[in-house]
Amino acid sequence: MTKPRTLLALNWKMNKTPTEAKNWARELAGSFTRGTAELAVMAPAIDLPGLKETLPGGVDVGGQDISPHESGAYTGEISAAMLRDVGATYVVVGHSERREYHGETDALVAAKARQAQSGGLTPIVCVGEGLDVRERGEQVPYTLAQLRGSLEGVGENVVVAYEPVWAIGTGRTATADDAEELAVAIRDALRELYGDVADGLRVLYGGSVKPDNIASICAQPNVNGALVGGASLKVADVVGMNDALK
Ligand code: 13P
Repeated sequence: MTKPRTLLALNWKMNKTPTEAKNWARELAGSFTRGTAELAVMAPAIDLPGLKETLPGGVDVGGQDISPHESGAYTGEISAAMLRDVGATYVVVGHSERREYHGETDALVAAKARQAQSGGLTPIVCVGEGLDVRERGEQVPYTLAQLRGSLEGVGENVVVAYEPVWAIGTGRTATADDAEELAVAIRDALRELYGDVADGLRVLYGGSVKPDNIASICAQPNVNGALVGGASLKVADVVGMNDALK
């Protein structure tokens, strides 16, 4: 199986004003040389136009959430078409923080992913178990159930991010073997859904990824990149991760 191109996806979460985002992009443009990985910045929606204008060519941008609806009376929501219009390629859906703090269910996540696809975006669908599930050793069935629910009716233009909740922002990273265990299980499930195309789909790992652990995680046969939170905020760390993947 030929590995799909590695994706280094940055998730800024609720950090950086539009001014800070542009400054970050200018700094990146001054210190970044393209590696083998594709780089994409998932930023607050309001940052995207300035980022798109300032980032080095070939760096993609994306949103962190979208509405499950196409348009209309949904105060506060942002549609796939709006993100697309400001140059987004991707959108994160079903991040564990949205599931936990905003009560998002698998069905809602699937509706968002379908909406992303019909608006021309590639959804990055996040799944992953909490500590209690991991301690019971039930991470594979739990994550696969979440994945199947979150991909209900979703087409094959999709990226899956496995982000064990206990590894997010905690400094506690899953081992490369833990990441591969879930990536294999996720790919098998993707094969059931989409057939052989699944071999070309990207399965990312997320959770305390940084310059010194990204290479060993992404070297796993079924891991095709990373979704990075904390270490995405400083340009030096992003350059370090990009270089580690060269
Ligand atoms: P950290 O890299 O800060 O652990 O966050 C991971 C994450 O939630 C990316 O979406």
